[in-house]
Amino acid sequence: MNPHTPDLRVRLGALELQNPVLTASGTFGYGEEVADLVDLSKLGAIVCKTVTRLPRAGNAPPRTCETPAGMMNAIGLQNVGLAAFKRDKLPFLRDSGTKLIVNIAGDSSEDFAALCADLNDEEGIDALELNISCPNVAHGLDFATDPIQTEAVVKACRAATPRPLFVKLSPNVTDIAVIARAAQEGGADALSVCNTFVGFAIDTRTRRPRLSNGTGGLSGPAIRPLALRAVWRCAQNVQIPIIGIGGIATANDALEFLIAGASAVQVGTATFVRPNAALEVIEGIGEYLSQHEIASVRELTGSLQA
Ligand SMILES: Cc1cc2nc3c(=O)[nH]c(=O)nc-3n(C[C@H](O)[C@H](O)[C@H](O)COP(=O)(O)O)c2cc1C
Repeated sequence: MNPHTPDLRVRLGALELQNPVLTASGTFGYGEEVADLVDLSKLGAIVCKTVTRLPRAGNAPPRTCETPAGMMNAIGLQNVGLAAFKRDKLPFLRDSGTKLIVNIAGDSSEDFAALCADLNDEEGIDALELNISCPNVAHGLDFATDPIQTEAVVKACRAATPRPLFVKLSPNVTDIAVIARAAQEGGADALSVCNTFVGFAIDTRTRRPRLSNGTGGLSGPAIRPLALRAVWRCAQNVQIPIIGIGGIATANDALEFLIAGASAVQVGTATFVRPNAALEVIEGIGEYLSQHEIASVRELTGSLQA
């Protein structure tokens, strides 16, 4: 490797990525939708939209609304279901030129584990992300708000697949460190921190909720300091790698998460504004490393100064 080219490679459990920038689940579809706009092969990895066993139509519209510094969504895990995912979406994703992390959600520990097992024979999947933290479906938050359930679901999945397991945590808890430790105890290889923050918005003309679901998940720049604090807190309490998520739109935002203790980051809502946001973040991290004469991005992780 050229000594003047910063080394962007990172390791998440057994998975090595060419750089630390991933796309966040639900904001990048199944890759295909944005392939004309984004060179997918340059991404650290694609995390695809949550897949459930059966297809889901999601919640009734309106399912998104704008907020002063971000958006709220209550999509409700609309997805094509496992069979159609394997048949129609996987072939494109496995040829995208980068790593693929499949995000899954189940109704019970057994359902989560069965989903993991049902993907074992599929080639081209590099890791699984367990979405135990969706705020927009009934009982979606049950797993991620109770350490006993968190550990149990991760344990069940750990026994069902040899693949690296990333566990996506909810910020809607009193102390995320308790849940982070439970996920680590269950056998997680990395933690994705975090999903959206539950919010509420009212249309004052009609005095009705702006989202048909009532509440929604807040994402975007508004949550960045909150998510950053969650990552920092997790980093102090677990030994496994952390993937920072929440309002990341620029390289500087991503650098904050890395310095706070993340080994990688995901870009979500920013992609809706600038489809190439993740690629810009990768470029900017490289420039920062060169400017500061830092050989590897791995040196930044947890490098917060007192
Ligand atoms: C429209 C929308 C749909 C989402 N769908 C999912 C999903 O299916 N599964 C999941 O794990 N997270 C989902 N998320 C959460 C994101 O992956 C991410 O955790 C969150 O938006 C915070 O990151 P951001 O502020 O960069 O968007 C969704 C977010 C948005 C905005």
